[in-house]
Amino acid sequence: MKCVLLILAALGLSLAEESSTYDHFRLPTALRPQKYDVRILTQLENPDDFRFNGTVKIQIEVLKNTHNITLHSKDLTINDTEITLRQIGGEGKPENCITSTERNPIHDFYILNTCEELLAGQVYELSLRFSAQLQDQLSGYYRSSYEDSVANETRWISVTQFEPSSARLAFPCFDEPGYKASFAITLGYHQKYTGLSNMPVRETRPHESIPEYVWTAFEESVPMSTYLVAYSVNDFSHKPSTLPNGTLFRTWARPNAIDQCDYAAELGPKVLQYYEQLFGTKFPLPKVDQIAVPDFSAGAMENWGLVTYAEVTLLYSPEYSSQVAKHGTANIVAHELAHQWFGNLVTMEWWTDLWLNEGFATYVAGLCVEDIHPEWRTLQFETMSNLLTIFRTDSLESSHPISRPIEMTSQTSESFDTISYQKGSSVIRMMHLFLGEEAFRTGLKSYLERYAYKNAEQDNLWESLTQAAHKAGSMPTDYDIKTIMDSWTLQTGYPVINVTRNYTARTAKLSQERYLLNTDISRTHKGCWWVPLSYTSQAEKDFNNTAPKEWMECTETGESVPKTIQDLPGPDQWVIFNNQLSAPYKVNYDAQNWKLLIETLNSEEYQSIHVVNRAQLIDDVLYFAWTGEQDYEIALQVISYLQRERELLPWKSAFENLSFLTGILRQTPNYKFYKSFIRKLITPIYEHMHGINDTDASVQQQDKIRLKGMVAQWACSYEVSDCVTRAVSYFRSWRSEANPDEINPVPLAVRDNVYCTSIEHGSVEDWDFLWTRYQKANVATEKQTILDSLACSQKVWVQQRYLERIFDAKGEIRKQDSLSVFQSIASTQAGFPLAKKYLMDNVDSISKFYHPQSESMAELLLPLSELIFTRKDYNEFKNFIADSKEQLKDIDQAINQSLETMLINVQWKEQNYERFTEAIKKLL
Ligand SMILES: *[C@@H]1O[C@H](CO)[C@@H](O)[C@H](O)[C@H]1NC(C)=O
Ligand SMILES: *[C@@H]1O[C@H](CO)[C@@H](O)[C@H](O)[C@H]1NC(C)=O
Ligand SMILES: *[C@@H]1O[C@H](CO)[C@@H](O)[C@H](O)[C@H]1NC(C)=O
Ligand SMILES: *[C@@H]1O[C@H](CO)[C@@H](O)[C@H](O)[C@H]1NC(C)=O
Ligand SMILES: *[C@@H]1O[C@H](CO)[C@@H](O)[C@H](O)[C@H]1NC(C)=O
Ligand SMILES: *[C@@H]1O[C@H](CO)[C@@H](O)[C@H](O)[C@H]1NC(C)=O
Ligand SMILES: *[C@@H]1O[C@H](CO)[C@@H](O)[C@H](O)[C@H]1NC(C)=O
Ligand SMILES: [Zn+2]
Repeated sequence: MKCVLLILAALGLSLAEESSTYDHFRLPTALRPQKYDVRILTQLENPDDFRFNGTVKIQIEVLKNTHNITLHSKDLTINDTEITLRQIGGEGKPENCITSTERNPIHDFYILNTCEELLAGQVYELSLRFSAQLQDQLSGYYRSSYEDSVANETRWISVTQFEPSSARLAFPCFDEPGYKASFAITLGYHQKYTGLSNMPVRETRPHESIPEYVWTAFEESVPMSTYLVAYSVNDFSHKPSTLPNGTLFRTWARPNAIDQCDYAAELGPKVLQYYEQLFGTKFPLPKVDQIAVPDFSAGAMENWGLVTYAEVTLLYSPEYSSQVAKHGTANIVAHELAHQWFGNLVTMEWWTDLWLNEGFATYVAGLCVEDIHPEWRTLQFETMSNLLTIFRTDSLESSHPISRPIEMTSQTSESFDTISYQKGSSVIRMMHLFLGEEAFRTGLKSYLERYAYKNAEQDNLWESLTQAAHKAGSMPTDYDIKTIMDSWTLQTGYPVINVTRNYTARTAKLSQERYLLNTDISRTHKGCWWVPLSYTSQAEKDFNNTAPKEWMECTETGESVPKTIQDLPGPDQWVIFNNQLSAPYKVNYDAQNWKLLIETLNSEEYQSIHVVNRAQLIDDVLYFAWTGEQDYEIALQVISYLQRERELLPWKSAFENLSFLTGILRQTPNYKFYKSFIRKLITPIYEHMHGINDTDASVQQQDKIRLKGMVAQWACSYEVSDCVTRAVSYFRSWRSEANPDEINPVPLAVRDNVYCTSIEHGSVEDWDFLWTRYQKANVATEKQTILDSLACSQKVWVQQRYLERIFDAKGEIRKQDSLSVFQSIASTQAGFPLAKKYLMDNVDSISKFYHPQSESMAELLLPLSELIFTRKDYNEFKNFIADSKEQLKDIDQAINQSLETMLINVQWKEQNYERFTEAIKKLL
């Protein structure tokens, strides 16, 4: 799924004899690896000296004559004198050798110059020995640990994380996704451990010289990319899954967490079965292992046959994890297993098309979870969350296209972002909806069959789908998917469509332009999108039809073709475009149409507008008001209908938008008007959900549970009704338990909110009580909830103490959790100024803390930027960034997005603050 990569350490290892002249970021194309034989010995017994060493033998096919072998290697010690090279089969003399080696630290190249020219058509075997420290840097081959509380000991394990470019930290290889080869892995380790890899064990035998050590050889893999190779040495327990005729499936975790594996073990095989059906292709490997790793930089990683997860995403405890966390587990398992086909079987040629993997896995994971748990009703929620996220990120000028050139490995990590995942998913959903089920499935199946065990680019997928669509008749024959999809994947941003109705002619004129939040920037000539137009009217109300009735088209030069829609209803009826948000665009209407919509929303009839479109109207109108295209009076009239609303999606849409306003307003004198408005808005839904009382029987559905949690959070921070007193009393009764680590009376659905509210209104003793629970907790989701809640304190010194605990390398907060704790602190009122100052004062040591993944620093900037809204603070931040170039390198995208976010806030404060307050006062 998502992972990190390393910045260039530029250590210039001493083996380099001369620096290389070949300075392209991609490997030369003269060679192609066919097969790797990797033997690795891992030593985990001595905590003062964790290390691994090994041998790699690579069979290399020569495509063009060449005098060198260029591959990737980073931070590995290689003894040059032990390298061997010989020709396999063929004519000519088999012995060859290496005259010299070079390193290129910019591109991590290790270049071996050969004695004799390597000849096209021949196959050679290269053998290298290497060794390195087993570090704790969460990438490459690294170590992780957990506490065995019974024995009171720390246990060590090792595991890999290679995507995108860290296989080179574990063994020398052709570390690009296009170089697929088969891998025969052999692991050596102390016999008390278990070894796992992509494939099943072939044989285990004693080590030839080290006592109590064994060699475990795994079967040779199918052809695959280096970034999908995985192995681990650990002392974990496992839970087998049983599904008749299914693939062998096991779930692994540290022994004291094995009882949290039940859900993942039950779910995994079902997910695999779902995809076998969806893709019409059997899972190609004999087994799947999924493993929960205590220290993990991302959510999970889809290594073929050995999927790795952070504990917090894989493990589920019915007593400690919420329903929302359970959905998270389902979703991520579904995402990673989707990759087993989309990504692993067919792989992107280069990282430019990373989005195809990620967008696709994100999208079909939603379908899969909906299929397995229809009672959860999560698909709409997923869809909406993705769209809300990208409507924000992609309305920044500093956003980027889904498909973008990657010319340095260090740029790859910035591609694992909401644009690849959420926008990727949204445009694939759009395509699914306009293609229809049959064309979508047959197109996919033929793509997967055609490129199985190979690499592909987005155009290859478009080709298969276009053929299928024309065959199924679901797309005009003069349209092709490439033209349509290129407008969404190669251009940054998304359009807003202006709908201007002529009520006498019963027509509407449509025009499009890129939607941008930054009002200083002109929107003209910022692109054109092929937009599928679905729409319905007040009389028709056919929101279920998401197939396009018409298209907005673009000329070959990228100009929008104006569009007129005929046969619309008369002046007493509204129209709504983009049924169920079937494509990622915004829609603005003329004043009369908004008026009609507002009337319906604020009446008993509000449910006659589909729930997704209610959420759409809220999101659109609040954006338009923010950018000055709509009056705040109109926008507030739209959202006032929420007093009637009982469904999740419109509230989600409203809360996300309101939180941007809250961030600014709570630092201004007019906050009290806003606060009254919010209270008025949410009191009815709060009462309807019985506040934060535990009403088990009535709340079984995921969406209701989510809504209750969301409403409770807003109600408590705006001190609505009894929210704070109820929360604090739950917490008190927990504190008075004799054994609070065993018995917790706080209802699961509102636990995060109860903890946070109690810390916000509580004493330092409450804080310390919760910190102790963090230390004792054995469930990762509970630990995470506690860590986030501890950030809610209003006491400056408590916040400062907490900040310092984050970056204490020997402290009790794992590095993997540090970013989310910082973000939680930075988003609170008391924490924000402290977090900002802390970052500015300590940027140097923080960057060292994250080294070599200093791109993690990106995550520290965004939460701060959302709360900055004065020119003075903006300038201060800008100067800070300019002064910290060295510490903030390789995160240009995050820097630009942060600066633009601040600027947008500054604009809002200058242009809208007074107007907004006036509009609010009228509604009180
Ligand atoms: C790896 O280290 C072990 C123990 O130190 C040693 O016996 C072995 O020869 C080394 N193997 C390689 C390939 O360097
Ligand atoms: C290695 O060989 C390739 C292909 O023959 C060539 O393009 C490249 O420049 C060579 N690298 C060096 C460092 O000479
Ligand atoms: C490299 O290998 C050779 C031959 O095995 C050995 O003599 C030499 O000491 C090794 N060099 C290093 C730096 O380990
Ligand atoms: C666990 O071990 C540490 C040091 O190894 C020791 O300080 C501590 O008292 C031990 N705790 C228990 C409960 O035995
Ligand atoms: C399992 O496979 C066997 C043989 O392939 C087949 O006869 C049987 O119907 C399958 N059972 C199920 C439950 O699919
Ligand atoms: C609306 O359409 C009518 C009839 O075609 C036309 O006469 C009128 O000018 C149009 N109104 C506007 C504002 O374009
Ligand atoms: C869309 O409407 C807005 C507000 O009325 C206007 O500023 C903008 O220029 C219009 N855009 C197009 C492409 O017609
Ligand atoms: Zn993924």
